[in-house]
Amino acid sequence: MIYLDNAATAFPKPAEPLRRALEQYLEAGASPGRGGYDLAVEAEYEVDAVRRKVRRFFGGGEGWRVCFAYNATDALNTLIMGLTQEPCHVVSTRLEHNSVLRPLHHLAEQGCISLDLVPFNSQGYVEPQAVAAALRPDTGLVMVNHASNVFGTVQPVAEIAALCREHGVELLLDASQSAGLYPIELEKWGVGGLAFTGHKSLLGPTGIGGLVLSPRVNPLPTRYGGTGVDSINLVHTMDYPHRLEAGTINLLGVLSLGQSLDYLATPEHGQALSRERELCARLAQGLAATQGIELYCAQGPGERLPLLSCNVKGMRAGDVADILDGDFDIAVRSGLHCAPLLHQDLGTSPHGAIRFSLGAFNTAEDIEAALEAMERIGSTAAAKGR
Ligand SMILES: Cc1ncc(COP(=O)(O)O)c(C=O)c1O
Repeated sequence: MIYLDNAATAFPKPAEPLRRALEQYLEAGASPGRGGYDLAVEAEYEVDAVRRKVRRFFGGGEGWRVCFAYNATDALNTLIMGLTQEPCHVVSTRLEHNSVLRPLHHLAEQGCISLDLVPFNSQGYVEPQAVAAALRPDTGLVMVNHASNVFGTVQPVAEIAALCREHGVELLLDASQSAGLYPIELEKWGVGGLAFTGHKSLLGPTGIGGLVLSPRVNPLPTRYGGTGVDSINLVHTMDYPHRLEAGTINLLGVLSLGQSLDYLATPEHGQALSRERELCARLAQGLAATQGIELYCAQGPGERLPLLSCNVKGMRAGDVADILDGDFDIAVRSGLHCAPLLHQDLGTSPHGAIRFSLGAFNTAEDIEAALEAMERIGSTAAAKGR
């Protein structure tokens, strides 16, 4: 099987980091921060070490906070709901994933926020000036998908952040796709924070994600419970990280994330990333030259991730994906990619597109096989006059 759906989740995962994390867990898997005995202290020490690694990995400075969550969706809900306890205006984009769109839509429906969604340009980029034009005196939050899960375009977030700061508002990122593929420098860029997920290009397991937040960004807790600290108080603590972490955290997930971050820093992985980018360029070039293929946003200047979306003219995306799977054993994602407004604006709704997303383990042979399959599907469609 040729796996080209790494933007959904990275597969396969490097086994060694996961094995090492499991060993750590089996040796010191006590409840972190919940006891004074050696093993619990050791578990907490390990968790804190991963928090520091995560902070440094995303370029957060001293005093920045890392709070763990189950995935990006969980982290984004914590962030969005925690920052909109007072009615305010929110700016986001039409490139967003439902993990951002749905919480915002819910809040807007409830009358808790007013919402403006900024469009993207023909190349799949959000223009900083378009974000600036949407800002109002009562804007309390600007939320941008750092890298599109459909186009692969990486947004100019340092420029957007500078404009937001001029208006006294923080820019926050959904870094689900960019984390692990694109170097992130939160403090340097002047970005207020981000939400990440562990199972995509960070190469960790499912069930772990989190928030990295500047001390300027302080969401209120929206879930309350045991934290192992200040237990006498019936009011949930306002201290980090427990402020945004209620209940026992996913220790195995945290340890795995720590091991994955070490793995991402290896020269071996650096080489894999360069190969991924080269293979994606070959795929884009091959698809652009293939009869009957409509490629979205693969050209043009600007920063990109190794993924791209397309359609075969006259065919539904789901049917093309079924043929790729059934006849060629190639796994891709078809449909709306949880980005309904993007596909609406692209004119590809309701059937969406097919997305090829590369990973660290793809080879040149995988890409040539995908191109050959698309060539056959495209020419069959053209011969049938589709
Ligand atoms: C841009 C974007 N945001 C958020 C998510 C949600 O990630 P998770 O399912 O890990 O919460 C995804 C995953 O597909 C994504 O691509």
